[in-house]
Amino acid sequence: MLALRARVPAEDQPKLRCVYAASEVAGFAKTGGLADVAGSLPRALAERGVDCAVFLPLYRSARLHANSLEATGQSFSVRVGAREVAGTLFRSVLPGSQVPVFLIDQPDYFDRDDPTTGKGLYQLTSPDGTKADYPDNCERFVFFSKAILEAIRVLDFWPDVLHVNDWQTGLVPVYLHEVYRQHPKTTFKPKYAAIKTLITIHNLAYQGLFWHFDMPLLGLPWRLFNLDQLEFHGKINFLKAGIVFSDLLTTVSPTYAKEIQTRYYGCGLEGVLLARTSHLTGIVNGVDYAVWDPATDPHLAANYDEHTVMQGKAACKKALQEHFNLAHEPRTPLLGMVSRLADQKGLDLVVAAAKWLLAEDNVQIVILGEGEARYHQMLEKLRQLHPAQVGVAFALDEMLAHQIEAGADAFLMPSQFEPCGLNQMYSLNYGTPPIVRATGGLADTVVDATPENVADDTATGFAFIPYSPEHFHAAVQRALAMYRERPGQWLRVQRAGMRQDWSWNRSAAEYVKLYEKLSTLP
Ligand code: ADP
Ligand code: GLC
Repeated sequence: MLALRARVPAEDQPKLRCVYAASEVAGFAKTGGLADVAGSLPRALAERGVDCAVFLPLYRSARLHANSLEATGQSFSVRVGAREVAGTLFRSVLPGSQVPVFLIDQPDYFDRDDPTTGKGLYQLTSPDGTKADYPDNCERFVFFSKAILEAIRVLDFWPDVLHVNDWQTGLVPVYLHEVYRQHPKTTFKPKYAAIKTLITIHNLAYQGLFWHFDMPLLGLPWRLFNLDQLEFHGKINFLKAGIVFSDLLTTVSPTYAKEIQTRYYGCGLEGVLLARTSHLTGIVNGVDYAVWDPATDPHLAANYDEHTVMQGKAACKKALQEHFNLAHEPRTPLLGMVSRLADQKGLDLVVAAAKWLLAEDNVQIVILGEGEARYHQMLEKLRQLHPAQVGVAFALDEMLAHQIEAGADAFLMPSQFEPCGLNQMYSLNYGTPPIVRATGGLADTVVDATPENVADDTATGFAFIPYSPEHFHAAVQRALAMYRERPGQWLRVQRAGMRQDWSWNRSAAEYVKLYEKLSTLP
């Protein structure tokens, strides 16, 4: 028989406490989807009763963009190599919430980003467009990782779960395990020892690789530099370190969780991930509909919903055509893309298929992107060959990203791999059916249209599998044929996508479950 336990009312139960550490957070500093997730998941966790605080570096962009940034008066120092480096803590909140954000100030490391001079969060872009990682990235993120562990002590904010993200915070679980759990002060030692760690892998292609002579900079013993822990083909691998030392792992979609345990997608870490398969969960990211909703989006020429999608999108399309100096042709299909210009995103397929489409068909294409110089060149060449049909913008432009989601008829995302992808979920909500390669989160969130599933309102986009320009081209042609010849079906696909709920309602509860599981681990 079960023992009878006294029931503790939910409101009297101690709250789970979480530190969410990321190298970018929307509203403060952003290069991609990690920022969107870090800016919205902690809020969803807080709404579900988790006592959550977010930590990120105080970059220059964060200093410029953060609302109500205030000094806490708290400071600390950490050892980086042979030096003691000072850090101070600033405080803000996640936009539209009370969730505290602690920004770690270290001007030498973080007060340098400036788009006008090509300085980003992690990279410097030369005048010729080539990009190079900052030579002190290892040092910067060694500092950030240790600073997080110092900050929780000076703030006296001891979490049950330390949730870290990607390589930039991959060393946090290592420092916790190897250094802080042996803290010399007896008051702190058990507090550090009680913390559990979770790492989320947003993208296995970025691992944080540094040469082995940086080991003294990390301040960790050489014994950790071995095949099963920090070493990877002769280098130090921050992401591998996080995978090996975290109590649990997640990645950002169930399909990507499976894929990364294979050779094709594993980027050399498939063996390490396979060894931890029972600790790895795939959870699809959520959309922040406070920011990405065509009914309320302040950046659009017209707001619209599922019922007014045709008129609303027509106005947004006209504005987008004007923005890019394209002919105002309401019925010419307009294909849109917003993307980091990186190998992952399938730009070689886009350029190859675009040449065929533009030669044989009357279509318009608009692309907003920023990234590798060779893709800038390829896209610029395409625009020059077809100036009346192609618009490109090389910038990070939040407002234009929203306008493309709304003004395009279909959204292109033929990624070679895509851990989750947020843009396809945004385009579902904007009535802009995505045309995707069925990989990672794209496979988990877009339903390829067939006559049957269009009829039962479950089709939401168009998908192809083999990574080739021919297969991508065929998927675009299927979409164009429906758009032109069967507008009733097209509208059903648009509306089916708009009705879906990809908010954090689906996924935040899964994180809470993992946090609960972690907090009961010995
Ligand atoms: P990833 O994180 O791999 O770049 P996601 O689809 O998860 O891909 O997220 C990309 C995020 O970055 C989206 O919010 C998207 O709108 C934004 N984004 C990408 N490129 C640009 C750009 N050039 N200008 C503005 N926003 C961009
Ligand atoms: C990465 C991935 C992207 C994912 C994002 C947020 O940048 O490339 O697929 O959506 O992280 O998890």
